[in-house]
Amino acid sequence: MNRDLDPADDIVAYNRVAWDSQVRKKNRWTIPASSEEIQRARNDDWRIVLTPEKFVPREWFPDFRASSIEVLCLAGSGGQQAPILAAAGASVTVLDNSPAQLAQDQLVADREGLALKLTLGDMADLSMFENESFDLIFHPCSNSYVPKVLPVWKEAARVMKTGANLLSGIVNPIHYLFDDQLMENGEFKVCHKIPYSDLTSLSSQQRQGLLDDNEPLCFGHTLTDQLGGQVEAGFAITGFFEDRWSECPISDYISSFIATKATKLQ
Ligand SMILES: C[S@@+](CC[C@H](N)C(=O)[O-])C[C@H]1O[C@@H](n2cnc3c(N)ncnc32)[C@H](O)[C@@H]1O
Repeated sequence: MNRDLDPADDIVAYNRVAWDSQVRKKNRWTIPASSEEIQRARNDDWRIVLTPEKFVPREWFPDFRASSIEVLCLAGSGGQQAPILAAAGASVTVLDNSPAQLAQDQLVADREGLALKLTLGDMADLSMFENESFDLIFHPCSNSYVPKVLPVWKEAARVMKTGANLLSGIVNPIHYLFDDQLMENGEFKVCHKIPYSDLTSLSSQQRQGLLDDNEPLCFGHTLTDQLGGQVEAGFAITGFFEDRWSECPISDYISSFIATKATKLQ
């Protein structure tokens, strides 16, 4: 089915079907939290990731038990973080582009008796939410699936309250410099420029391989767009760490993932 969609015409529609397919393939980022994790979260014993391996510091989160906290998991479905945050006491809305990923969150919510508000949509268009609706946005490494990241930061700022935090996982663009197949075998050949796009940076044969496998298409944004873009949208970056992913060969050389805490100024 995905082969009938030209991603150059509508990347959101293409990646929707591709992420639905990742759920069927049991991609790691589609596997829901266990009942044990939810039970621990109900007892205030929880930890979640924005990037592949390091847990986000607990001090980056408000106290969900002290007052009512509205959280938006932005392009963050899959049944992992949202149900844990809900079990920890937050009021959680999830926006994602993949019905199958949202169904993973619904599955955990039904299994555990949790309330989650699930919304199908594009992270660059949050028009279904009022200005200043959220106290926290949790945005794992998902803006690598949209061609432009600046509209995402702008919309996030609009729907957040002043002083609220935007927690983001970011793929360092160094990830996209090298020939992907050679890198799988530990050989690093610089092939691509940044910004990178699966739509335009690959040979037509390589791109066709991704389409044939129903793989989501990725974009490697500059750090100016990722970090400078947050500042431009009205945030101050108030927390930062880097992370690795042991199964990526590049992780032997550099931590190729970034997490930021950005606080909305006025
Ligand atoms: C790597 S998964 C992230 C979710 C996961 N819970 C995690 O911990 O990283 C990427 C998610 O981004 C979503 N996504 C991709 N393009 C999107 C878009 N344009 N708008 C909203 N969500 C999108 C996918 O459907 C997928 O659920």
